[in-house]
Amino acid sequence: MAESMRGLKRTCRCAELTTEMVHQTVTVMGWVQKSRNKGGIVFVDLRDRSGIIQLIFEESTAGAEGFEKATRLRSEFVVAATGTVERRSGAVNENLKTGEIEVIVKDIRILSESETPPFPIEENSKTKDDLRLKYRYLDLRRPDLQRNLILRSQVATLTRQFLSEEGFLEIETPILNKSTPEGARDYLVPSRVHPGSFYALPQSPQLFKQLLMCSGYDRYFQIAKCFRDEDLRADRQPEFTQIDMELSFVDEDDVIDVNERLLQKIFQLIGVDVTLPIPRLTWQEAMDRFGSDKPDTRFGMELTDVTEVVRGCGFGVFTGAIEQGGSVRGINAKGQGAMPRKKIDKLVDFAKDFGAKGLAYLSILEDGSYKSSFTKFMTEEECAGLVEAMDGKPGDLLLFAADKNKVVWDVLGNLRLEMARQLDLLDKNQYHFLWITEFPLLEYNEEMGRYQAMHHPFTMPMEEDLEYLESDPGRVRAKAYDIVLNGTEIGGGSIRIHQNDIQERMFEALGFTKEAAYEQFGFLLNAFKYGVPPHAGLAYGLDRLVMLMAKEDSIREVIAFPKVKDASCLMTDAPNVVDDAQLEELGIKVETDEK
Ligand code: AMO
Ligand code: AMP
Repeated sequence: MAESMRGLKRTCRCAELTTEMVHQTVTVMGWVQKSRNKGGIVFVDLRDRSGIIQLIFEESTAGAEGFEKATRLRSEFVVAATGTVERRSGAVNENLKTGEIEVIVKDIRILSESETPPFPIEENSKTKDDLRLKYRYLDLRRPDLQRNLILRSQVATLTRQFLSEEGFLEIETPILNKSTPEGARDYLVPSRVHPGSFYALPQSPQLFKQLLMCSGYDRYFQIAKCFRDEDLRADRQPEFTQIDMELSFVDEDDVIDVNERLLQKIFQLIGVDVTLPIPRLTWQEAMDRFGSDKPDTRFGMELTDVTEVVRGCGFGVFTGAIEQGGSVRGINAKGQGAMPRKKIDKLVDFAKDFGAKGLAYLSILEDGSYKSSFTKFMTEEECAGLVEAMDGKPGDLLLFAADKNKVVWDVLGNLRLEMARQLDLLDKNQYHFLWITEFPLLEYNEEMGRYQAMHHPFTMPMEEDLEYLESDPGRVRAKAYDIVLNGTEIGGGSIRIHQNDIQERMFEALGFTKEAAYEQFGFLLNAFKYGVPPHAGLAYGLDRLVMLMAKEDSIREVIAFPKVKDASCLMTDAPNVVDDAQLEELGIKVETDEK
């Protein structure tokens, strides 16, 4: 039978008790972590979100009834206990914050009983993810998840505080919106009042925050829920949270400055001192050196372009790629020259997953001789030149990709990360921040047969490249910047186009007619006719930021109720089939493949 807590007030949380409170009477409430009955004495570990305190029950202090109740306690029972704080009579527990003290209980109430939970509520759970997510409310009791969500709350609070002090206003933008093309797939919500019409959930507050700048709000921020119907990955959820901001009358350096100071503040929460300014790399340099627009700079193993070194050599794979306008680049996995063939073959397969036709390797043995998939096609001088260009030393493993630049970067960028994982070079205690600037404005989408905005269609081209917007769109760079941390894109933004003529040229480059552009984005283009300040902004993925701060590998570990890979929720079973009556009201007929 559950008892009432009437007349009782919790005096503090379990792990807020300290040695300074010895002899004081306190009331704590929480969940039974474990209880041990040692004959005349019952030890109970009581847990709440602050941690654990040891409770002691003896008949002489708790009374016969209280002692009997204590013997009935099982894991996850919810109890209220009143007693005095004392120094432990037994050994001090070094692993507990409250390890020097215990509460000698005088009065105990069982507020709620518990069935045996499907898995133990403990740190570093070995429980399978699916089971954890089905019983997420129990999983969330575990100390690691509680720490993560507490950290997430602290980041949000500090962000609000910092941005408010910097003159930003927190303004909400709508969730039920108009579907617009570009970007990821929208989540759609059917309208009952307008059968056949749909709202789209926001992929980001982008257009609204730009409109707020038109309306003179100057500096806006929002901790905003965003929705994107894209394939899930460790750092991607269908709904996620952005720290979103927009500023008027600023240039790139202003945006970067306020954000560097924000990041510095946020990382103080975990005792990390972010050195400012954060280094900047242009997109081109990032691709050339790391094969990625979000390079992990915690380790080296940079790419080397050996196109000129192997041009005209005897190896057809290399020369063929060069003739096709591609390049040959390599990485040097220092000290990996003894890697067995089987393991190298695995790397070749890995490279193929990223579109490589193959991966050429050259092991430099300790005696200086080579073991390689291609040196037989090259002269000794050609080999020596290549090894020298790669700074190859005995014991090194050189890996080469030859293809179009895009493929070579992707293959080697990912291979570089894979080698770092294998060599355990990714230290989660190190935080390497990086700004990537001067992104290409547009990228060609082969499937669509047209250019697509790399960031979004409102990003300002660099002035010096503007003249190529029509003649050579691929060459135009954008005033866009991403903030990268340890190889993860934690945020991105840009200077926006605020001139209608440039915006129209941009839409044209994207293959929109003027009519189509007005049809989709008329409200923004019209707003720009009535006096629009130059403006710029940025948005962080809050989930990704907190994931890295918490040293987790997936954003699921910092989201209270996340979805799984097929975008369903294992706890609620969303999405679900709805009543025919509901569908009828919405004017929706569902066709399934089921026969
Ligand atoms: P962008 O699309 O780059 O920019 O998004 C900003 C940041 O949001 C995070 N993010 C995600 N996090 C988890 N799951 C996802 N599916 C997901 N998608 C994106 C990333 C990313 O850097 N409106 C612009 C910002 C601007 O220009 O001001 C925007 O949304 O960390
Ligand atoms: P092949 O001539 O196809 O047998 O390839 C000889 C070696 O070159 C093998 O080790 C292949 O994995 C490698 N190779 C093939 N294509 C490429 C490529 N595009 N880039 C780098 N190496 C390649």
